[in-house]
Amino acid sequence: MTAPVLEVDGLRKEFVRGFLRKRTVAVDGISFRVERGEVFGFLGPNGAGKTTTMKMLMGLIYPSSGKATILGAAVGDIEAKRRIGYLPENPYFYDYLSATEYLHMIGRIYGLDRAERHKRSSRLLERLGLAMAESRAMRSYSKGMLQRVGLAQALIGDPELVVLDEPMSGLDPIGRREVRDLIIELREQGKTVFFSTHILADANLLCDRVGIIVKGKLRDVGPLGELLSPKVLRIDVLWQGSEQLQAALREQFDGSEPGSEPGSEPTASPHSSSSEGQVFVAQAQAQLDRFVAAVIAGGGEISSVTPQRETLEQLFVRDSGSRPEEQRS
Ligand SMILES: Nc1ncnc2c1ncn2[C@@H]1O[C@H](COP(=O)(O)OP(=O)(O)O)[C@@H](O)[C@H]1O
Ligand SMILES: [Mg+2]
Repeated sequence: MTAPVLEVDGLRKEFVRGFLRKRTVAVDGISFRVERGEVFGFLGPNGAGKTTTMKMLMGLIYPSSGKATILGAAVGDIEAKRRIGYLPENPYFYDYLSATEYLHMIGRIYGLDRAERHKRSSRLLERLGLAMAESRAMRSYSKGMLQRVGLAQALIGDPELVVLDEPMSGLDPIGRREVRDLIIELREQGKTVFFSTHILADANLLCDRVGIIVKGKLRDVGPLGELLSPKVLRIDVLWQGSEQLQAALREQFDGSEPGSEPGSEPTASPHSSSSEGQVFVAQAQAQLDRFVAAVIAGGGEISSVTPQRETLEQLFVRDSGSRPEEQRS
């Protein structure tokens, strides 16, 4: 069995700030593995702890506890670092340099000779659509162009593992698509990609697996489809019927009868009206069956029955409200 490319074991980071010693638990003991050749998406809302985790993995900040190994070596190992490419969340560029000069500088850090630096930087600039701007100082670049330079510098060392912190951020839909294609290309080359995003659509169709992080804790790890699709949260019924039937069903199905979810809000009515008719929100299949039968029996009509599946946003907030975000000591 080959060792995982990335193995994270109980990683935790607590920041202590200022005179009041305000504490923030940014990453709260997370564990997961990324296997060779995988595209692994690190998903979570802003402030979830993605960047902090990646900085710990790159050896830029120290964990408060826990450990991680990358390519079989401890985090921060110099030899391993040469086999990793990293796009930081806010890359800092020497903006008086041109993209070519900058890539040559990074190539030297990776130990590439002049010919190799030249070959790789021109190929990457071409691939990322920067060839036209390659000799202009980067201070004249747009945000999207700088993001591409960031990707180019992450790839110049031909790394086995590519770590990208929000690689689609600041890009328009075409740019996002290009980054997506680039990640697919890296996978085809057999590389391992670990990237973060707060946007579900950017992870969809791209990731073999995702890890979902909310408030510093890892909520789920697995194929995205499995994490999202099987959970039917509620079923929306659009129907028409007489005012008399509406009143009768409001009384009969007031959200407290058996078959409605035990934990569901007792105060929220499952009934509402829309321009297209009446809406009833069923919490379970049995309740749906009884409601539909009652509409038909009362001479009404069913227009549509729509299961509502869990979205990433709901997954983000699901049972994540209990831990106080900040504590003072
Ligand atoms: N240097 C720091 N000092 C104090 N708190 C920090 C620091 N860096 C990040 N945090 C806090 O840690 C939490 C996680 O931040 P971050 O890792 O940047 O999240 P994400 O990348 O998922 O948006 C946030 O509450 C953030 O304010
Ligand atoms: Mg971040």
